[in-house]
Amino acid sequence: ERSGVEGAGAPSEAAKKVKIGIYFATWWALNVVFNIYNKKVLNAYPYPWLTSTLSLACGSLMMLISWATRIAEPPKTDPEFWKTLFPVAVAHTIGHVAATVSMSKVAVSFTHIIKSGEPAFSVLVSRFILGETFPVPVYLSLLPIIGGCALAAVTELNFNMIGFMGAMISNLAFVFRNIFSKKGMKGKSVSGMNYYACLSMLSLLILTPFAIAVEGPQMWAAGYQTALSQIGPQFIWWVAAQSIFYHLYNQVSYMSLDEISPLTFSIGNTMKRISVIVSSIIIFHTPVQPINALGAAIAILGTFLYSQVFST
Ligand code: 3PG
Repeated sequence: ERSGVEGAGAPSEAAKKVKIGIYFATWWALNVVFNIYNKKVLNAYPYPWLTSTLSLACGSLMMLISWATRIAEPPKTDPEFWKTLFPVAVAHTIGHVAATVSMSKVAVSFTHIIKSGEPAFSVLVSRFILGETFPVPVYLSLLPIIGGCALAAVTELNFNMIGFMGAMISNLAFVFRNIFSKKGMKGKSVSGMNYYACLSMLSLLILTPFAIAVEGPQMWAAGYQTALSQIGPQFIWWVAAQSIFYHLYNQVSYMSLDEISPLTFSIGNTMKRISVIVSSIIIFHTPVQPINALGAAIAILGTFLYSQVFST
């Protein structure tokens, strides 16, 4: 009996760890699939503003159906909730479209190497915009992150300025998204899953007019015929897969954000990029020079150091 009582806390702690482990594994796996289909689509159909919009539209539709059929309980929201969600949605929209534009111009691995520099942006924004200060080791850990990203960028065989800037803008936008998300989710009864659903819907409203203005139905229709004739009917499935997997990986990431600290979240996100970089290099036969790979490795190691000094 006694051992049962003593052990009562242990299984729940272990169960929580298992749950988070499952969230992380699912998040990474879904993200790898998203990145592969997204790039396959962009190679045949280079309209990143449309594919970004479709990802948000698909997620919004999936969640509306889930709420209508009560697969998921709809959230109780008020105008105040949507008001605080607005800046998060602006940042999510910019970060999403910028990353997709980047991936339409450069290798998936290159975009993610630059995106592994996100912790550096987080510290710089917190320092210079929010006025927070950090211990010296935190600043020192930024050196390998920034240096590694810079080395990977200058040795990239297919360097492209739009590709590079897109990934940098995405880093900056997602730092703001994470800061605003944290504020918005605090003390609210809306779950991580529903919070991301609302975020998708608001981002869709923001992005649609811009996607029409930048690309527009004429380009989309002409490109569609070309893609269909090159790839065949499975092109539609690629578009569906990139859209569905985009929503699912983000949903799982917000579900895990509900349970863990933002720091654990950002470490998990950078570790995720290792699986994306490796799998996309294999699948798309991306040419990599040793010095280029070294830059990526230094940047990722820098994030490890950052997470260590940050948590102590
Ligand atoms: C996007 O399209 O939003 C980016 O691929 C997002 O990248 P991340 O979720 O890996 O930061």
